Amino acid sequence: MSTNVPSESIDKLHDQVSQSLNAFKDQHQEADRLAALKAAQGLVNALQKPQDSVYHLAYSPTHAMCVRIAIDLGIFTTLTERNEPVPLAELAAVKNASLILTERVMRILAGIGYVEEHDTRVYMATTMTRQMTDRLSIAMVKFIFDVGMPTLAKLPEFLRRHNFHNPAGALNGPLQYAEKIDESVWTWLPRNPEYLDNCNTFMEGDRGARPSWLEWFPVKERLLDGARPDGDVLMVDVAGGRGHDLLAFAEKFPHAPGRLVLEDLPHVVDESTVDTTRIEKKPFDLFKPQPVQGARVYYMKFILHDWSDEENHRILTELASAFTRGYSKLIIEEFVLADRDCAMLQAMWDWEMLIFCNSMERSLSQWTSLLDKAGFKVVKFWPPPGDGQGIIEAELKD
Ligand SMILES: C[S@@+](CC[C@H](N)C(=O)[O-])C[C@H]1O[C@@H](n2cnc3c(N)ncnc32)[C@H](O)[C@@H]1O
Repeated sequence: MSTNVPSESIDKLHDQVSQSLNAFKDQHQEADRLAALKAAQGLVNALQKPQDSVYHLAYSPTHAMCVRIAIDLGIFTTLTERNEPVPLAELAAVKNASLILTERVMRILAGIGYVEEHDTRVYMATTMTRQMTDRLSIAMVKFIFDVGMPTLAKLPEFLRRHNFHNPAGALNGPLQYAEKIDESVWTWLPRNPEYLDNCNTFMEGDRGARPSWLEWFPVKERLLDGARPDGDVLMVDVAGGRGHDLLAFAEKFPHAPGRLVLEDLPHVVDESTVDTTRIEKKPFDLFKPQPVQGARVYYMKFILHDWSDEENHRILTELASAFTRGYSKLIIEEFVLADRDCAMLQAMWDWEMLIFCNSMERSLSQWTSLLDKAGFKVVKFWPPPGDGQGIIEAELKD
């Protein structure tokens, strides 16, 4: 057998899969599920012959492409709604697509488990078919594919031209190079309404299936205890998109004292449909003075990873001047990259940040340094239960 690794390594990987799977079955711990997944992927890699492994890698963009085409063809919604075996001709008829073209798409979808091949040219829904009817998943595929792929394809060329320096700055990254624009993604997106809508919808689901911080962070002990009574602002979601995170907070803590404020760019706040009796909407700019003074909590999810260190310094300095020393807390929900054995999701996300924002994900030491320079001290890094975002609890330095 000629594979990537000798057979004793395959045996070892097989044992690792079994051990982690057994532990997961016994304990239902997320860490065991992730370990089993990693070992299983290692086993798949090891079983590939090296030359074929390169083939799979090089041809794998066709997977996302066929999923993207299948969304347009209505394949996932049709199979899910019908919930029975559906012949190819009926699937193709939904958008009057060519039979041959639809079959070419279906081969890939069956190969990656996004549909089941029930019989020759007859298909059924799988768990993944149903997942692809979820509006957040659809928006993610559309956004990453439609907006990200053209830039991704140009990234190696961009890096060659920049002598492989790690680029930074919202106005001079690979997106600007690929799209021939001289503005940031945040002013460019609104001029492409479909892109903007997919971006903001994707943001609503950007934790995937990972548990919300509200499930595992001690919100009561660290934030609510000691908060001033009604009238004062309890929490500002700084650049909170359409307000999904603040809404989740309001639902989880309906009796928490104080006001909740959603801040974002005017066009984003405008399209938010959150209940305005509980959540106040405030258009704002990250680079201008923070309009809400002395809140108990300033929450920022996936904001600082959008910007370079220099831009973040400006954002954090504006924020710091709104803080009440000894009372206001900064709660940052972001990935904290491990120095070794980094979770694959986080490593991939890091490249998407380069693609869209010319920015990056950060390690513990990079977060500490960034916050320190802007006048904050880290109280505690709270690791997540799995491979998702952690919480960085910070406050003004003494
Ligand atoms: C990656 S999204 C994160 C949204 C939300 N916090 C979440 O996690 O779903 C970044 C957000 O920053 C907002 N944003 C970008 N530039 C901004 C600026 N200059 N001022 C205020 N908000 C801005 C965008 O509109 C977007 O909603």
